[in-house]
Amino acid sequence: MSTPSPTTPAPPRSPLHSILYDGVSLRYLNQRLLPTELRYQTVLDADGAAAAVAAMEVRGAPAIALLGCLAVALELKGGRGPRGDPEALVEFVEERMGRVRDARPTAVNVGRETERLKGEMRAWMDREPAVSEGELRDRAIAHLEALLQKDVEDNRRIGSHGARHIAQRLQGGSRATLLSHCNTGSLATAGYGTALGVVRALHSEGRVARLLCTETRPFLQGARLTALEMLHEGVPTTLIADSAAAAAIRERGVHAVVVGADRIAANGDTANKIGTYSLAVAALHHGVPFYVAAPSSSWDPNVPNGASIPIEERPERELTELQGVRVAPHGIDVWNPAFDVTPHELITGGIVTEFGVFRPEELRHASRRTPRPPTSASLHPVVPYASCSNVPASASSSPNRKCCHGARETESGGEETAESGGGGKGGGEGAEERRPGHRPQEAACDPTAEAEEDVGGRHSAPH
Ligand code: MRU
Repeated sequence: MSTPSPTTPAPPRSPLHSILYDGVSLRYLNQRLLPTELRYQTVLDADGAAAAVAAMEVRGAPAIALLGCLAVALELKGGRGPRGDPEALVEFVEERMGRVRDARPTAVNVGRETERLKGEMRAWMDREPAVSEGELRDRAIAHLEALLQKDVEDNRRIGSHGARHIAQRLQGGSRATLLSHCNTGSLATAGYGTALGVVRALHSEGRVARLLCTETRPFLQGARLTALEMLHEGVPTTLIADSAAAAAIRERGVHAVVVGADRIAANGDTANKIGTYSLAVAALHHGVPFYVAAPSSSWDPNVPNGASIPIEERPERELTELQGVRVAPHGIDVWNPAFDVTPHELITGGIVTEFGVFRPEELRHASRRTPRPPTSASLHPVVPYASCSNVPASASSSPNRKCCHGARETESGGEETAESGGGGKGGGEGAEERRPGHRPQEAACDPTAEAEEDVGGRHSAPH
């Protein structure tokens, strides 16, 4: 057995926690240092949270929101903000949360939590005009502190809805080969994860043959973070270069692509880590279902479509340097968007939320009716896109192509008949049928040593 090098940590024995909060102190795991160093750092207030978010020491839309919310909870507990004036307290909370929201503008979660808390505070004031500022403060703190636990619960629901939906498409008890992008796991959330939550849930049922995880340029969130989480979890995982994704979909028998979201527009267009759009195009071309897994708080009814989502652009050096080592010539022009938008028609598997799996167009219809997040009551869980894998690549190039028919999945796991047309197979069939260039998954799952090689002279992926 080889002795690990001093810079190679053993995989951690307990799940990684992105955020530690005990009601008195707030700490975050500095994700820039992983996988070589496990260091928790203290945050005292919203400004500290905003700085950690801007540096991407904490990243992932839900984790960003939670750090911001808990930092504001600490400020409130510490007596910061106006005294004796409930309305001024609402404005204070909005201003402090805004610091974190503005640090990275694409993810909507901080903004959504701010609106929710403001709404709650104003509702308390309306219901009880005599409510004191101190009482309002205590309730706001309790509201913010509850989010940590809620996020884990939501993620577990997302995981189980997504896993059930994907499992329906597999023949018999066979296992799926999945492809995911960036890091959407415990590190990007309060725990369990969104897209990686779906992977975790499927893996716990023995239904994952292999996860293909993209390295994720420019910051290597996949190589450093997803690889670490999946090694810890024991999920068979193969790291690939981002540029290998289309080939992997064709060559490695991918059954589904599952990604997260930073913001979902009213019509279902989804902003997520740069490279997501090209994955969706490749998935459609090969008839592979494409899923977005995100809490309903990622849905932004105020933004009509993807063109209105602000896309963060990151510093040039994140492309011209690899882990601090200059690799591009000085003077080269750089465009470094952190996210891209996947049009809703490419989200062929569905949008997986804590309430169930929805078609993007169901979000759009819901947004016309009411500016609220989707609920199981207002939206029908998605019909599996059962036979996408049978559609020839040439026919798949129409973005408006629909291939959904089969059984509806409800939150309770029951089924009801879908009214959508198309006939053909039900949701449990079709996913494993072979296509040209689509090799049996088990034979094609050898981890690739090349993808794990050093970047900029340092080892970036966990061993
Ligand atoms: O730039 P990042 O690493 O913050 O990007 C993260 C993503 O794009 C995730 O997919 C998204 O935030 C969802 S995380 C559950």
